[in-house]
Formats: sequence, structure tokens, C-alpha cells
Amino acid sequence: MKKRSILWICYLVIHWVTGSIQAIVYPSMIDAPDTPTRAIIGKTITFRWHYNSGDLKDDLYEVVFGIWKSPGFLKTKLIAVNSSGFSLTRPSYESSVGWAGNLTSSMAVFELYNVKLEDSKKYGIVVEYGLQNTPLTGTVQLQVVSELQAKFRHTDPPKTATPQQRNVTTVVYTTNKLGSTETVKGNVLILLVRPSQECVH
Ligand SMILES: *[C@@H]1O[C@H](CO)[C@@H](O)[C@H](O)[C@H]1NC(C)=O
Ligand SMILES: *[C@@H]1O[C@H](CO)[C@@H](O)[C@H](O)[C@H]1NC(C)=O
Ligand SMILES: *[C@@H]1O[C@H](CO)[C@@H](O)[C@H](O)[C@H]1NC(C)=O
Repeated sequence: MKKRSILWICYLVIHWVTGSIQAIVYPSMIDAPDTPTRAIIGKTITFRWHYNSGDLKDDLYEVVFGIWKSPGFLKTKLIAVNSSGFSLTRPSYESSVGWAGNLTSSMAVFELYNVKLEDSKKYGIVVEYGLQNTPLTGTVQLQVVSELQAKFRHTDPPKTATPQQRNVTTVVYTTNKLGSTETVKGNVLILLVRPSQECVH
């Protein structure tokens, strides 16, 4: 019995101490662009990250966007946005990358203009909270394709048989006992099964 009450006091003390430590909310990513993201040559692509700075909101130093290098850093910084929302672009990239976000609403939005095939790279952002804090990072793989490639991908048949449901309103005629014709309207679900290509030899 005595042992039990000591354990209970220990539990209360631990709970109180860890409870006050757990109150820190670390930065986290709420939303990120699809990866890979596909873009058509010549078009503008927008990468949108939504983050939550948590308790480090007032420590935000800058948001940097650039070309990502494994295992995890920005090889080439393309654009940096300071905590007042002013962006600074790498001189040779001024006509190809831009800032379209809003730090007040924790939206990091970067645009790549007039994308080319050679822009198919891994890009990333780093949200810096000063040297003493771990930065928040995010990456996206860009795939630039020609308009023709984009069209073909769109009409590619599925490789595996996928049943497709079509909801078709049909009219069904029935004949009752008295021989007169009744019209019954109903919704019929038609199941279309595309034959699998793997089955054809
Ligand atoms: C952000 O950059 C602008 C323009 O260079 C500058 O005026 C401002 O002081 C900078 N803000 C901070 C917090 O460094
Ligand atoms: C940024 O977001 C804040 C808060 O949502 C809003 O009040 C402000 O107008 C936005 N600024 C711009 C330039 O859109
Ligand atoms: C089929 O369409 C009818 C009318 O448009 C609708 O009431 C019904 O819910 C649909 N059924 C399905 C399975 O989508």
C-alpha cells in the first residue's frame, strides 16, 4: 500500500513536469505541393507550402527556395524571403523565379516561369527560425513535359482492368398480366470492365 502511494506521487510529479515541457509547439508543415509535380514546357508552375510556425512564430528569420540536393540541403538558393516579406532573387534567375506567398498567413508560395525540360529537378524550401532552432524543410520533384507528352499521358488507358461504373437512366418495358404495356423508368448501374492487357498473349 505504501509503495502504491509513492508510485502515485511519482506519477503526478512526472506528469506535471512533462506536461509543462509538452506545451512547446514545434513548427510543422500543413500542406505541400504534390510530388512529383508535372508542368508543360513554357508554362508557369506554382509551388505552395502552408506551414505552422507554432511557438517559433516570432523567431522566423527567412524562407529560402532553391534547388535541392540529397541528403537534405539547398544546393543553389534561388530566392530568399526575409521576415518582413522582402524577397531577394539570385541575379541570373530574376526572370525565371518569383515569390507569391504571404508570411503573415504562413504561406510559402514560389513560382517558376516559362519552364524548360532542364528545369526538371528537385526543389526545396527551408523555413529558418534562427541558428538555435531546427529549420522546417519541404521538397518537390518537378517533371517538365512537352504538350504532346501531357496529352498522351492523359489518354493512356489504364494498365490494369478497372471496373467503371456508369449511372444510366434507362426505360424498361414490362408486360403485365392483362397484356397492356407498362413503362417503368429506373436508374440502372452498368458495370463496364475493360479487358486487362496482361491477359492478351
Ligand atoms: C528585409 O529586407 C528589406 C529590404 O532589403 C529591409 O528593408 C528589411 O529591413 C529586411 N527585414 C529584416 C527583418 O531584415
Ligand atoms: C497576408 O495575409 C494576411 C492575413 O491573412 C492578410 O491580412 C494580408 O492582407 C495578406 N497580404 C497580402 C499581400 O495578401
Ligand atoms: C444515379 O442517378 C440518380 C439520378 O440522377 C441518383 O438519384 C442516384 O443516386 C445515382 N446513383 C448512383 C449510384 O450514383
